[in-house]
Amino acid sequence: MTKILVTGAVGQIGSELTMELRERYGNENVVAGVHRTQPEGELKDSGPHETVDCTDTEQIKRVVEKYNIDTIYHLAAILSAVAEEKPHLAWKVNIDGLYNVLEVAREFDCAVFTPSSIGAFGKSTPLDNTPQDTIQRPSTMYGVTKVSGELLCDYYYKRFGVDTRGLRYPGIISNVTLPGGGTTDYAVEIYYEAIKNGKYTCNLKKGTFLDMMYMPDAIKGAIDLMEADGNSLTHRNAFNVTAMSFEPEMIAESIKKFIPEFTMDYDVDPVKQEIADSWPNKMDDSAARQEWGWDPQYDLDAMTKDMIKVLRKRLK
Ligand code: SER
Repeated sequence: MTKILVTGAVGQIGSELTMELRERYGNENVVAGVHRTQPEGELKDSGPHETVDCTDTEQIKRVVEKYNIDTIYHLAAILSAVAEEKPHLAWKVNIDGLYNVLEVAREFDCAVFTPSSIGAFGKSTPLDNTPQDTIQRPSTMYGVTKVSGELLCDYYYKRFGVDTRGLRYPGIISNVTLPGGGTTDYAVEIYYEAIKNGKYTCNLKKGTFLDMMYMPDAIKGAIDLMEADGNSLTHRNAFNVTAMSFEPEMIAESIKKFIPEFTMDYDVDPVKQEIADSWPNKMDDSAARQEWGWDPQYDLDAMTKDMIKVLRKRLK
């Protein structure tokens, strides 16, 4: 019987992943690990939740023991822009937190899913068709923690046999919970502003290509990877995965197909721009396709259509 703990369960990915895992494995078998923000609504009512601050090993251990957890989706993390503002906190949460989770997983024999990111690359990486195995010399604290995390997860697999797996997520676009302080957040905010005000001021420059993905694909990718036969995996931490690559003008054009009066201007945030410029324009995700069947369903227009449909209902 699969018993799952999701850390960061009220975050952008966690809030939707927890619900999907409950749907698949049964409500009572998926524990929402929460920290400062308490769960609300369906997330709170549909299954158990527990306080899990990943910087506190005892708290993780207590919950893993209490529920007999065998799989941890470790999503609690600080995103790129906040990590530049608070590098010490980013290290503490993204590295110490991961280390604590891996230690508990080693002791209690749990499998661990950890998201890495396009942020694990840097300016010396080939930024077009970024290979699965390539130079990773990021210049941001977020990137430093993500590369270190990938290596640490590989080490725990090789040295201790912990079943660690991960994805290098691109910018994730969703309509349930807002992301908290990432460089790719513009691609979420733009939809909310398009519906509410018909216009948006973009904080990245025209021509800034980045990989992106709609939330249903991000969730399916995590679960499919965790369910894949371990023997078929050559890579583990972490797989390049992408569903689309676009720059701000392209998402604006896509929105205009559904909201013709939509307009966009620019007010570039230099910190975010520098981060974005050091990230891939488009990753090569063929290893994920070959090793465990990664096959995203949403392209830009399909995502825009769905985002606008959902947000129109909710925001108007
Ligand atoms: N969406 C993340 C960020 O912008 C990238 O991993 O920080």
